[in-house]
Amino acid sequence: MSAPLPSAKSPPSHVAIIMDGNGRWARERGLVRAEGHAEGARSVREVVRTCREVGVRWLTLYAFSLANWQRPQAEVEALMRLLIRFSEREAVELKERGIAVQVIGDLDELPTATRRAVEHLVASTRPEGGAEPTMTLSLALSYGGRRDILDAMRALAVRVKAGQLLPEELDERWLRAQMSTRELPDVDLLVRTGGEQRLSDFLLLESAYAELYFTPVLWPDFREHHLLEALDTFARRERRFGLTGDQVQQTRVDA
Ligand code: FPP
Repeated sequence: MSAPLPSAKSPPSHVAIIMDGNGRWARERGLVRAEGHAEGARSVREVVRTCREVGVRWLTLYAFSLANWQRPQAEVEALMRLLIRFSEREAVELKERGIAVQVIGDLDELPTATRRAVEHLVASTRPEGGAEPTMTLSLALSYGGRRDILDAMRALAVRVKAGQLLPEELDERWLRAQMSTRELPDVDLLVRTGGEQRLSDFLLLESAYAELYFTPVLWPDFREHHLLEALDTFARRERRFGLTGDQVQQTRVDA
């Protein structure tokens, strides 16, 4: 009999993950970096399924950042091929599990074959008849948080210039509606593997009140029990959103 999943009682609604450590995992084994990414794709598979099982509603993975374009060409190409393979292999099962895939960032900047494969994955996992998916998996591809904010500001500036919007009408909702993350709620739990403790331009606006969880575990080693540990830590945190501890307790009593 398998033990009950410890965090099933109060899973975060939106989990975002910076999947770091693939290169080091490969180097430790005398392998090329691409093999670290390939093993990392297996962690992706496991973590996606676990999130869905414990009731996470939104999962966002930092699969390829804007800065990653500066990596050696062979590594970029290997990552692009891996995305094709992932898209082709996972589509049917994701659909069966009610997991819809979407993209944040700029899919148009990807090579044509990768873009087409990911577009096909997105289309083939879209629930029929406008139904709600059980979970939405967002892949951040050619994504940068600052760029997303800047692009949104440019789009708003154009509308202001055209007289469609007044500057004083602009608020956070307007800004967020222009961003590639427009469909995502705020991040509840942001996980970074691989031992570094930074955001690396990931979901800067959306993580304003996220709980941060850093682990030294390298991404290819990060499997179900590591994720459950992160969810468990999250469940024990008190989120105050700027309130006092007493106010938070009172809100719970009132609810
Ligand atoms: C960072 O590790 C990881 C990446 C830049 C790529 C992440 C991609 C995957 C996990 C696999 C493909 C994704 C999907 C969705 C199929 P790093 O290479 O910077 O590691 P290092 O810090 O040890 O060098």
